[in-house]
Amino acid sequence: MWQIRKPQGHANEERPTPSLAERQLMSVGDAGAFAKRDVHTDLKVELHQRLLDLINLSALDSMSREQIKDEVGEIVEEELAKQNHALNLAERRRLVDDVLDELLGLGPLEPLLKDATITDILVNGHDNVFVERFGSLEQSPVRFKDERHLLRIIQKIVSAVGRRVDESSPMVDARLADGSRVNAVVPPLAIDGSLLSIRKFAKVPISMARLVEIGSIPEPVSEVLRAIVASRRNVLISGGTGSGKTTLLSAFIDNRERIVTIEDSAELQLQQEHVARLETRPANIEGRGEITQRELVKNALRMRPDRIIVGEVRAGEAFDMLQAMNTGHDGSMTTVHANTARDALSRVEQMIGMSGIDMPARSSRAQIASAINVVVQVARLSDGRRRLVSLAELTGMEGDVITMQEIFRFRQTGISADGGVIGRFEATGIRPRFLEQAVAYGQTLSSDLFRPETRFE
Ligand SMILES: Nc1ncnc2c1ncn2[C@@H]1O[C@H](COP(=O)(O)OP(=O)(O)OP(=O)(O)O)[C@@H](O)[C@H]1O
Ligand SMILES: [Mg+2]
Repeated sequence: MWQIRKPQGHANEERPTPSLAERQLMSVGDAGAFAKRDVHTDLKVELHQRLLDLINLSALDSMSREQIKDEVGEIVEEELAKQNHALNLAERRRLVDDVLDELLGLGPLEPLLKDATITDILVNGHDNVFVERFGSLEQSPVRFKDERHLLRIIQKIVSAVGRRVDESSPMVDARLADGSRVNAVVPPLAIDGSLLSIRKFAKVPISMARLVEIGSIPEPVSEVLRAIVASRRNVLISGGTGSGKTTLLSAFIDNRERIVTIEDSAELQLQQEHVARLETRPANIEGRGEITQRELVKNALRMRPDRIIVGEVRAGEAFDMLQAMNTGHDGSMTTVHANTARDALSRVEQMIGMSGIDMPARSSRAQIASAINVVVQVARLSDGRRRLVSLAELTGMEGDVITMQEIFRFRQTGISADGGVIGRFEATGIRPRFLEQAVAYGQTLSSDLFRPETRFE
């Protein structure tokens, strides 16, 4: 019956000795914990600690959550009785659930992770948690008991992917089992307590059809994007942080080619079957074994890719990516952090400089101009909504300058009473050169789309 209880007299055995960083944080945490003490949080963390003393952790693996729940429920009852806590049935149930979350999951983060309306979770110290819903940030009532509790959850997340976080490596990227992207920074780099940022993995990836439905991309423009991909144009998606670059990149391609993806932290959700995914690796404790995006791009060329997709270019790999685009791997794509299409090109130019290859500015630009065909700019506008705001085409070089022409743009005309952005998409009137290529690939696009008077509401 008592599968998970330890034999008597063995309590305390498995409580881990706190690490140096934890001990340091304990003092920080305990000093700060006076602030918003919440009885429920205290109780569940206390009960969780008590359970760690009482139960045999290795038995948990072979039991279902329901089985564990029954037994944990009984232990919780006993402990509550001992401590004279009067809780009603609903409160007790919630407590057992929360204790289970502590024991089996990521504690206070669990309800936020389960809530499908939340897209980002931002923890700024143990008692200050924000979430993003429908494009806007709001404070969440969720709290950790203290810094130490938060740090324990962070350790649990990063150790699951074989990484660690402590004074000597206080910043870490990780991923949750469901694919959500995680970044954690702990003291001393994080001044007011550990910082945890989670970009949740959308359970249902946002498809092109969905982007059209929610008004991020007008239907006709999505058709143009489709034709651009089908006719193997090389695409750079540019946007600010959290503007929807990765999402658009994922929605972009849906066909049956062999795609090799390269990412620092895998988060692309491509819809097709034939995807070979690669992810970089940070250096180990001795500073060895690092594999960069650059090396992965070079390796990808030997994997017979039809297209190469780099999740986001940040440094020297931009050079290898352009090389790949220029040497027959057309139809490749990447994203870059920039606020306009023009900026995106300058960023890529800077990145070529970071590759350590000494190239005159003009040659770098010529590389860019011949490799990249289309720049798609996305943005998160002031109302929190994400939109495609510009689609531009590179046309070559004039002197030392890359020439580019905008084909579609979003023009903001005002703000509604409730803060919504009012505006419309419009064609600039320029007939893109990629049309010709599209036709060669059997893609038919009405040339009406590109007339200057064309508006998409
Ligand atoms: N068009 C959209 N409409 C609504 N939500 C979106 C849209 N595009 C992306 N999102 C959501 O916004 C969040 C950020 O998207 P995404 O990760 O694609 O942005 P990003 O620009 O790649 O961010 P980062 O700069 O962090 O790499 C995600 O939770 C995603 O589901
Ligand atoms: Mg991204």
